[in-house]
Amino acid sequence: MSETFSSRVDVSGEDIHWDFKDEMSYGGYLSLDVLLAAQTPLTDEHDEMLFVVIHHVAELWMKLLLHETGAALEDLRQDNAGPALKKFARVSRIQEQLTQAWEVLATMTPTDYLAFRDKLGASSGFQSFQYRTLEYRLGNKNAALARVHASNPPAFKMVNDALQRPSLWDETLRWLSRKGYDIPADRLERDWSQSYEASAAVEDVWRTIYRDSETHWEAYELGEKLVDLEHKFQQWRFNHMKTVERIIGFRRGTGGTGGVSYLVKALDLRFFPEIWTVRTSL
Ligand code: HEM
Repeated sequence: MSETFSSRVDVSGEDIHWDFKDEMSYGGYLSLDVLLAAQTPLTDEHDEMLFVVIHHVAELWMKLLLHETGAALEDLRQDNAGPALKKFARVSRIQEQLTQAWEVLATMTPTDYLAFRDKLGASSGFQSFQYRTLEYRLGNKNAALARVHASNPPAFKMVNDALQRPSLWDETLRWLSRKGYDIPADRLERDWSQSYEASAAVEDVWRTIYRDSETHWEAYELGEKLVDLEHKFQQWRFNHMKTVERIIGFRRGTGGTGGVSYLVKALDLRFFPEIWTVRTSL
């Protein structure tokens, strides 16, 4: 131990555990040996470590997003809107972390990336099963995209379960209906694997809620949390698209799409359509 270090940090009077032979340690609890062994770049290019780490971090945040949104959906099913609202507040902060991460990735130049891009083969974030599960859960039911996961049965099951089950928007409408709002029957029972079609009657319900928020406070608060969620999801998509443009220009993606042109199209998607359209007519 260096002079400076030992003179600044005196631990002699503290009751510190030094021996972890029979005790749980920090690294043991967190399985750090597994976690930190997973970053295995394929080249010696300096920036590949950034590329791997940023994807791992994103997948971990997505894991937590699935944990939180899954529990919030269950809260709604049980008519416990309060705890669901609390979880959505956390979801929002996690989304901020995910969006902020593009700033770190943007320090990688096109030359830095091209130095190892060939080694990625056909792999692409497009094949992220957690991302697809999240999109299905939130309501972007583009069933064709599940096919990418057919060769990975556990991943396919996870993605397909989310495709077949009611989305967050479906569960919100079912919750509103149980609270006495006039949601059309064909929005309460349907083939959940199909895209949701916006409904004028559902927009009317949201108009009622927004025009008299004090009377409809809980629904109003949930509505605003969902707007927040979708707004932040779009910010993530936009920053992804712009970072990709900055790094690969208009090249095709490693996953086989047109690249930026594919990512731009996703900016028009809506998870919760009527809560956006109602804003024009309030
Ligand atoms: C140099 C960095 C990156 C580039 C050049 C890039 C490029 C692309 C491209 C071109 C696509 C379209 C599919 C394809 O043809 O491959 C895509 C999709 C995707 N990427 Fe990235 N990406 C980068 C970093 C990331 C990171 C850090 C994440 C975080 C997990 C990510 C997640 C995704 C996801 C989830 C999709 C699917 C989007 C959808 O289907 O709507 N990407 N990416």
